Amino acid sequence: MLDQGCVVVSVGGQTIALFADGGVVRAVDNRCPHMGFPLHRGSVCDGILTCHWHHARFDLASGGTLDQWADDVPAFPVEIRDGEVFVDVAPQRDERAHRRRRLRDGLERNLSLVIAKSAIALTPDDTDAVFGAGLEFGVRGSADGWGQGLTILTALRNLLPLLEPDERAHAMHHGLAAVASDCDGMAPRHPVAALPAQGRAIDTVERWFRRCVEVRDAEGAERAIASAVRGGEAPDRVASMLYAVATDHRYLTTGHVLDFTTKSLEALDHAGWEHAEEVLGSLATLYAEGGRAEESNQWRSPVDLVAILDDAFAQLPDALAAPRRDWAPPDGLTEVLLGDQPREIAAAMLDALRAGAAPEAAAAEVTYAAALRIARFPVTNEFSDWDTAMHTFSFANAVEQGLRRTGSAELVRGVFDAAMSVYLDRFLNTPPARLPNGDGGPGGRDRLFELLDRQQRVDAAGSLVAGWLDEGGDAPAVMGALVTALLREDRDFHTIQMVEAAVRQHGSMAPERGRLVLIAAARYLAAHAPTARAQTQTYRIAWRLSRGETLFE
Ligand code: FES
Repeated sequence: MLDQGCVVVSVGGQTIALFADGGVVRAVDNRCPHMGFPLHRGSVCDGILTCHWHHARFDLASGGTLDQWADDVPAFPVEIRDGEVFVDVAPQRDERAHRRRRLRDGLERNLSLVIAKSAIALTPDDTDAVFGAGLEFGVRGSADGWGQGLTILTALRNLLPLLEPDERAHAMHHGLAAVASDCDGMAPRHPVAALPAQGRAIDTVERWFRRCVEVRDAEGAERAIASAVRGGEAPDRVASMLYAVATDHRYLTTGHVLDFTTKSLEALDHAGWEHAEEVLGSLATLYAEGGRAEESNQWRSPVDLVAILDDAFAQLPDALAAPRRDWAPPDGLTEVLLGDQPREIAAAMLDALRAGAAPEAAAAEVTYAAALRIARFPVTNEFSDWDTAMHTFSFANAVEQGLRRTGSAELVRGVFDAAMSVYLDRFLNTPPARLPNGDGGPGGRDRLFELLDRQQRVDAAGSLVAGWLDEGGDAPAVMGALVTALLREDRDFHTIQMVEAAVRQHGSMAPERGRLVLIAAARYLAAHAPTARAQTQTYRIAWRLSRGETLFE
């Protein structure tokens, strides 16, 4: 054996490579842990085995790799008795613990293939632990705090129930890789602890919090958040405090700040409130540094929308003092919201509240109007304007979800902000695209995927979804197809936000409105497909490796 250099044997379905190494025999799994190349075709030099595909290096004695993008190869104890070689092929490591450690390695080093392998191995039985690992890493991994990556991770976690079990690890891979990418090369975040003793009334802490954010003091703001959580305040009360700050200024950072607030709370719904101090603390920089729309020209001129809003906000306490009762939107409200008279828009929203509309019901009217902007978005617009329309819809949805969660009176200001953003987006529907009437032929997942294989099949995709639903197509199946189609593409933050908000809205809308919001999502997705699909290629490689398939032939 020692003369032959390398021998390959099969034991119990496992192929093992035996190498002569400086007078001893070493045994390792013959499958390179990186992408499966046969290691017996590698080279040994000075105790290091080098794989000949991408040149990963392994310590022959332990199997440990010098290249973190590969992985440790399983190594097995060898004994030589009377000239015969005995190999103990029993598993030498706890595979699940190994995969959890490798998930951490992948997140820390932004190694997408490593993340994919761990997501595939761990997701089926341990989705919450996988999500929690991404969340824990993400809130500390970047000094910027909560960002797009964590929002993507949470949005995709929300969408998991619509996916087939086999597709769920794919969604988690997208989310985890987004977090790793956000944190790559960034200075870590060092959380600010709560005040040393609790006992301050939450109203006081909230006042301090709002004052800190007002003067853009992120550390003071984070200490206030941590103290509110540590003080044992109810989650909804803490959430209300955050929403107050997120709406003290207009449409912060094109709506992202409020959107991220809602997503962070949804992340805690999955991970547990015990993570609140760190997760919510990671929002402080966003609040302090957020871009305030009242400082932008378009919110001030030619119409001073901020003045209109201030006037409306002064009337809010009275409007909200009216008793809440069953309320149906008056005829023509959607047209007013889509119109070009911002004073009428603000007045219509105040009227709705005075008439007893629950704030979330008023918010839902604005969210629907924002969705219609996208359903009617003509492809003759500038391409980047898809995002303008999506920002408004995503923001409106986040406000509505926040109201459903907390009933915060301060957050009602966000409904008016969203309505003004719908107004500002009116040029995107000039002229409006025709709403699809479902004449695009039979629906179905494969047809949708075929359409999305070609560029700019926007109207065809909207028409297909309309027809699919009109023929009695199952809405969860349509939404599942949209989410699966989303996963085929390279991650685009806004497209993920769009599809997730549409799915969320569909759950609370009347069928006709739900149909339109899914049409809007399909049109948006089609406008952004196909991409190079490189991330799915990485995931597919990991998937095939997990099935024991051969990639190198
Ligand atoms: S280094 Fe071995 S398969 Fe890539």
